[in-house]
Amino acid sequence: MMINEVLECFKKLYGGEGDIRSYFSPGRVNLIGEHTDYNGGHVFPCALTIGTYMAARRRDDRKLRFYSMNFKKVGVVESSLDDFSLGEEGNWTAYPKGVMWTFGEKKHPVLSGMDIVVYGNIPNGSGLSSSASLEVLTGVMLKDMFGYDDLTMVDLAKYGQYSENHYNHVNCGIMDQFAVAMGKKDNAIFLDTATLDYTYAPIRLDDAKIVIASSNKKRGLGSSAYNTRRSECETALAEIQKVRNIRSLGELTPAEFEEVKNAIKDPVRVKRAKHAVYENARTIEAVRDLQAGDIAAFGKLMNASHVSLRDDYEVTGKELDTLVEAAWACDGVIGSRMTGAGFGGCTVSIVKNDAVDRFIESVGKKYLETIGYAADFYVVSIGDGAHRLA
Ligand code: GLA
Repeated sequence: MMINEVLECFKKLYGGEGDIRSYFSPGRVNLIGEHTDYNGGHVFPCALTIGTYMAARRRDDRKLRFYSMNFKKVGVVESSLDDFSLGEEGNWTAYPKGVMWTFGEKKHPVLSGMDIVVYGNIPNGSGLSSSASLEVLTGVMLKDMFGYDDLTMVDLAKYGQYSENHYNHVNCGIMDQFAVAMGKKDNAIFLDTATLDYTYAPIRLDDAKIVIASSNKKRGLGSSAYNTRRSECETALAEIQKVRNIRSLGELTPAEFEEVKNAIKDPVRVKRAKHAVYENARTIEAVRDLQAGDIAAFGKLMNASHVSLRDDYEVTGKELDTLVEAAWACDGVIGSRMTGAGFGGCTVSIVKNDAVDRFIESVGKKYLETIGYAADFYVVSIGDGAHRLA
């Protein structure tokens, strides 16, 4: 068990006395509904059984000590509740520190210093939300340690997003933190990001598996075109609002979009807004198909999602396109698309059980030949949201 190693490490570093508690928070994969969450559209992510583990204990003073078993070279990073500046270190501690800072901003102050050890088995920077996982993990720990029973899991998701937006300066939507906080074993979450209304949809893939392929191309959301895409959509919305009274692109059906798209003055922005509107419609339809047991139709919509992200939203790139096109060429693949922000990161594919080995071999080979380094493959299971372990 992963958590035992984390607890061992904690005791070795900080001593084994007192009330040491442990927590887990998952990563997530989005099945469909990409770049819709900051446009008031729908998303359909699920939490994974891989994620981030934490051991933590309160201190009597205001000191903070952080250690990640993933970044051993960084060592123990010390700071204090009296100083939430980002600091020179510029490392992974920006995520837990950001959430602690957010708790203070939101009138749920961190009441004492802490000793913390974390370990994650989500590949970092792969687009499976290792950062949202760590944010919600910190939130769950703080709520528990300081008895903030008034905070719901949805509040913790919002705190994670607030921290990402205002502390880490990445203008992300709510999807990742919501999926990580609210995940449910064997279910995906159909979330309307305009209202935060959601339902769980059981994912029963009797004869198929969810396979994630990591391009191993690192992406940094902050420095990437993510924030640009977001502002392009905001500008397009403002242009449409001159001719139609809407609050977000997610309110438009594709037919309505076609009526008003001439209000957008730039062809690139037309493509961005088109993706947001059509992807939202695809997501609603895909969930309907899944509920009707039509997994083949669901897969076709995943493929269409990728095409739109490639041609209209332009966030795929050669690595993700190579993975997805090789997947489409492989027998037994029900659907395949990039997942997460794009620009690198991962693809998600639904693959028939008896085709999984062949899929990994043929997509892996094609990727290595075309890109020059290897992809990694993970056959994943859908797990629960963040929670206390012991
Ligand atoms: C990242 C962001 C999310 C979402 C996706 C794209 O994962 O954190 O809020 O916008 O990209 O769907």
